[in-house]
Amino acid sequence: MPTVLALETSCDESAAAVVRDCTVLASAVASQVEEHALWGGVVPEIASRRHVEALPQLVERVMAESSLSYAELDGIAATVAPGLVGALLVGSITGRTLARLHDLPFLGVHHLEGHLCSVQLGEPLPAGPYLVLLVSGGHTELVRVEEVGVYQRLGRSHDDAAGEAFDKVARLLGLGYPGGPAIQVEAASGDPGRFSLPKGRVSRPQGGFHPYDFSFSGLKTAVLRLVQRLEQDPRDLPVADIAASFERVVSEVLVERSCRCAQDQGLETVVLVGGVAANRRLRQCMEERCGALGLQWRVAPLAYCTDNAAMIGVAAAARLAGGARSGTDLGVMARLPLEEASRLYETR
Ligand code: KG4
Ligand code: ZN
Repeated sequence: MPTVLALETSCDESAAAVVRDCTVLASAVASQVEEHALWGGVVPEIASRRHVEALPQLVERVMAESSLSYAELDGIAATVAPGLVGALLVGSITGRTLARLHDLPFLGVHHLEGHLCSVQLGEPLPAGPYLVLLVSGGHTELVRVEEVGVYQRLGRSHDDAAGEAFDKVARLLGLGYPGGPAIQVEAASGDPGRFSLPKGRVSRPQGGFHPYDFSFSGLKTAVLRLVQRLEQDPRDLPVADIAASFERVVSEVLVERSCRCAQDQGLETVVLVGGVAANRRLRQCMEERCGALGLQWRVAPLAYCTDNAAMIGVAAAARLAGGARSGTDLGVMARLPLEEASRLYETR
């Protein structure tokens, strides 16, 4: 059971955690959301600077809370891809420096592999293969998981990620950033059936539609047109009903295509992870649909849906247990497909 200190700085949350296998010994997240909210989105330069300021204290805090010394750790991990390069560098350099200082292996982790592993911080998972719906601010993917490191992407968004759609629609409705939690709050008092909105399908070159791919840009435009049509008097805009209708359509489309994919592939379990997995309606919709179809479903614990370092630690612990470690010259990457995550390791 490897014990790992893990760091996460790929976007706008600075985070550190100590995990033993799938158990969190300590976890801390310093969010920069309020500062980026002033600009309506993440400003990369501000993100890097805030990571530099926050990370040393977070590391001290989780090490103290875990009551462990560095000698009791088996490795140090940091997210190295994908993400904002300047932000990733802060975590990666900090992690590699600590690893060298304490003579420990360093593991560079793929951020999406971290999200995939976040579900293991809750109930234990059945053995693979299973289907993961990964819905975050930057990604919407359907991934067949055999085991850690063996992935096949079966579906994806062709334009906005689901979280991005929440953020953009929230901005249209004047609800601020990040949009997901704001839409959820507003939608709670709205009528989800009031407006019908498009479910966004993706055409295939050979004709027909791709059964497991997503497109959210048409949905976003439909909300924009709706707002323009209704906005004779902005005070009368039925924000709660629009938010609820949008949240319903996004949840339905994500759940319908995931379940269809799982059934077609003969996979019995659907796993929901990523920031958007925190959404109450999406969880409920997944539970109902999987229940009706006789599929198993699992979701990451609420606290570990949005970015955190505990999930990075779980991924690193699994890799370490398999004998992997990263080379000392490993850099950071703005992009790296999940299927190529094993490139980050040398297996011994
Ligand atoms: O996984 P995450 O923290 O960061 C990325 O890796 O992108 O996901 C952030 C995204 C944001 O777009 C945010 O609006 C969305 O997750 N989100 C939600 C909720 N909480 C966060 N979307 C819908 N409902 C929520 N409750
Ligand atoms: Zn993330």
